[in-house]
Amino acid sequence: MYDVNAIRADFPILSREVNGKPLTYLDNGASAQKPKVVIDAVTRAYEHEYSNVHRGLHFLSNLATDNYEAVRGKIARFLNVADEDEIVLNSGTTEGINMVAYSWAMPQLQAGDEIVLSVMEHHANIVPWHFLRERQGVVLKWVDVAADGSLDPQAVIDAMSDKTKLVAITQCSNVLGTVVDVKTICHAARERGIATLVDGSQGSVHMPVDVTDMGCDFYAITGHKLYGPSGSGAIYCRKERMAQMRPFLGGGDMIREVHKDSVIYNDPPMKFEAGTPGIVQTIGFGVALDYLMDLGMENVAAHEASLRDYAMTKFAGLNWLQVQGNAPGKAAIFSFTLDGAAHAHDISTILDKRGVAVRAGHHCAGPLMDFLGLTATCRASFGLYNTTDEIDTLVDALELAHELFA
Ligand code: ALA
Repeated sequence: MYDVNAIRADFPILSREVNGKPLTYLDNGASAQKPKVVIDAVTRAYEHEYSNVHRGLHFLSNLATDNYEAVRGKIARFLNVADEDEIVLNSGTTEGINMVAYSWAMPQLQAGDEIVLSVMEHHANIVPWHFLRERQGVVLKWVDVAADGSLDPQAVIDAMSDKTKLVAITQCSNVLGTVVDVKTICHAARERGIATLVDGSQGSVHMPVDVTDMGCDFYAITGHKLYGPSGSGAIYCRKERMAQMRPFLGGGDMIREVHKDSVIYNDPPMKFEAGTPGIVQTIGFGVALDYLMDLGMENVAAHEASLRDYAMTKFAGLNWLQVQGNAPGKAAIFSFTLDGAAHAHDISTILDKRGVAVRAGHHCAGPLMDFLGLTATCRASFGLYNTTDEIDTLVDALELAHELFA
């Protein structure tokens, strides 16, 4: 049974107060809080088990290397990837997508080639492709979402042409919570020989992920959204695509030999992991994944679905609240504006006074904001430890904001 109160007790920060009120943390889309097991693992690693990895032959270096490398296998299990050598460890989704842009796309794509994107991508899954547009004449083809924020997979498939080399698409919008049928898109792309990159930064947090079944070429995740430390993350790269990738960052660890006039690179995935990595962050990330796998992502998804349904019912009674996006099966992520002139920043400041943490702004999703005709929204994004009581607290705080600005 999913005991949300017992789960909350695992997260020390949730018992603190903010502005004299109990913390209601609804900014999980930006970064999730950490369970004590993760915090303890980070402390233990620094206090007792720290050294650089892959380099020394001494006890601590071997121990740190074993602890660090074990995380690759945990990520593979979390994503249902059979071969952990298809997992590149990094600092998060932004680095992962940039690596694909530099390592795979830049050498593969030429002027006139096309990349298909949805209008609700995060900047991390937009700006690297603008680099290719600016520098190489690659064409970005945008697919709009429907009025309810849903993305028709057929519209993405229809946007694929014989010039399309890559489809880069989010599994879950960080603004609307829309969950995309990425499997249908990836399979259609595979049939056409088109590569697929799925931004799993939000999707991996809210639902079980099976990358093998999804059939994508690249799948990027971020540790700090998955209840792990910031500065940790990974990207799955299908072996056939990995073989086409040139190194991204150069430095230690990614090489076998370096001479004055030649260099021999390490085998993948090490070939794509230059320099001293986020050792302790990654070890903490592994513990966060253990925590999630112990809870069961199906159970997390079911809990969050009940929060979503409760929030939707409550919001429906607030006729001055405009929630953006109500696609069927959306994740528990709600972006909203209030009637009247109140700016999202002002609303979030009032919520903060009630101890309610939300994000306000463009949410690193400029094209979606343009599409919606908005400059900013407030966003309440729920996580595995949130409760219906916290939704009531949010609604009370919103009513206060509405009264102040009406
Ligand atoms: N990508 C994070 C968000 O959506 C930072 O807030």
